[in-house]
Amino acid sequence: LKMALLYGGQSSEHEVSVMSAASVAQAIRGRIEVLPIGISKDGQWIPGLAPESLVERGCFEVSGGHGAAADADRIVQNRNGFLLGYLRETVDLVFPLLHGPMGEDGTVQGLLELAGIPYIGGGVMASAAGMDKEIMKALFKHHGLPVGDYLVFRRHEWEKDRARICTAIEDRLGYPCFVKPANMGSSVGISKAHNRAELEAAFSLALNFDRKVVVEAFLDGYEVECAVLGNEEPRASVPGEIVPGAEFYSYEDKYVKNDSELIIPARLTPEQTAEVQDLAVRAFKAVDCAGMGRVDFFVLKRDGRILVNEINTIPGFTKISMYPKLWAASGVPYPELIERLAELALE
Ligand code: DAL
Ligand code: MG
Repeated sequence: LKMALLYGGQSSEHEVSVMSAASVAQAIRGRIEVLPIGISKDGQWIPGLAPESLVERGCFEVSGGHGAAADADRIVQNRNGFLLGYLRETVDLVFPLLHGPMGEDGTVQGLLELAGIPYIGGGVMASAAGMDKEIMKALFKHHGLPVGDYLVFRRHEWEKDRARICTAIEDRLGYPCFVKPANMGSSVGISKAHNRAELEAAFSLALNFDRKVVVEAFLDGYEVECAVLGNEEPRASVPGEIVPGAEFYSYEDKYVKNDSELIIPARLTPEQTAEVQDLAVRAFKAVDCAGMGRVDFFVLKRDGRILVNEINTIPGFTKISMYPKLWAASGVPYPELIERLAELALE
C-alpha cells in the first residue's frame, strides 16, 4: 500500500499539521509506504518533503521556493492539476492530514473526489459541516443532540451595529462568553470575554480569521473528548478528559506550553461514559462523517449534564493528541489505527 501524506497547509493550524504528520509518518514506518507532500502556507504542494526532517530541525515552516528543503524543481502549484494525475498513478490513497480551512473543510476533499483518488476521513459535506461551527451546531440540534446556547454574527453586522450585538450577547449569553471564528481549529482566534471591552477585542481578533463569528455561553464543566472510528457503523473509544493548564484549553496550552493534562479514561460514571459514547456516534452521523472524528463535550459541574461542543473531522495526530491516545487506550495501537483508517478509506 502506498499513501500520500498531505500536511502543512494554508491555515493557521499549519504547524499543528506538521507535528501530526511527523507522528503519523513515524508510527507507520515499515507498514505503509508514505509519499509525504508538504503544502506551504502559500499553497504550494511539495512532493517528497518529509515532515520529520522539519521537526527535527525545529523548523515547522514549509517554505517552498529558494533555500527550501525540497527540490525546487518538484514544486507543483496545486492549481494546475498536474500533481493529481501523478498522485493517481503513484499512490493508492491520500491521507489529508490538514487541520483547519483549506484542508479539513472539504476543499481538498473535493479536489480528491474530482481526481478519483480515495482518501482518509469524511467527504466534502461532512468536512465542510464539521469545520463551520454554525452549520455543525445546526445539524447537531436538528438531530436532537444537546448543545450549549450560542449566537452567530457576520462581519458586516458587526461593522454596522456593534452596540446592538454586544447588548444581544449580554442579554442572552452574559459574561464570560467565548468568541470564536466559525471556521478554525486548535482554539486559534478564540477568546474568553469577561466584559464589553474584552468582547469588542475578541470580535476584532476572531474577524481576522473568518467573516463569521460564533459566540458561545460559558459552560462551567469538565472537557471530555471521545474518538470515533468507522464508516457506516462507527465505534466510539473510551472517553478522555482534559484538565486545562490555563483558563481554557487554548492554542498555547495545547501545543506550546503543553501543560494541560489528559486523563484517560475520563473520570465519569459508567452511565455518563455510555452517554458520551452514544452522543459521539450520533454527532459523527449527524454530519455524515466517515473514517474518523473526535467529538468534544462539556460535562457540567452543576448537574453532570453532558453537552456536545464540536466534532473535529481531522483531529490532531501529534504525540500529545487525544485521538490516537484514546484508541490506544481502547485497544487500537497507533500504527494499527492508521492501517484501519486506510482500510476504511478504501472500503
Ligand atoms: N484542530 C485540532 C488539530 C484538533 O482538533 O485536534
Ligand atoms: Mg475544532
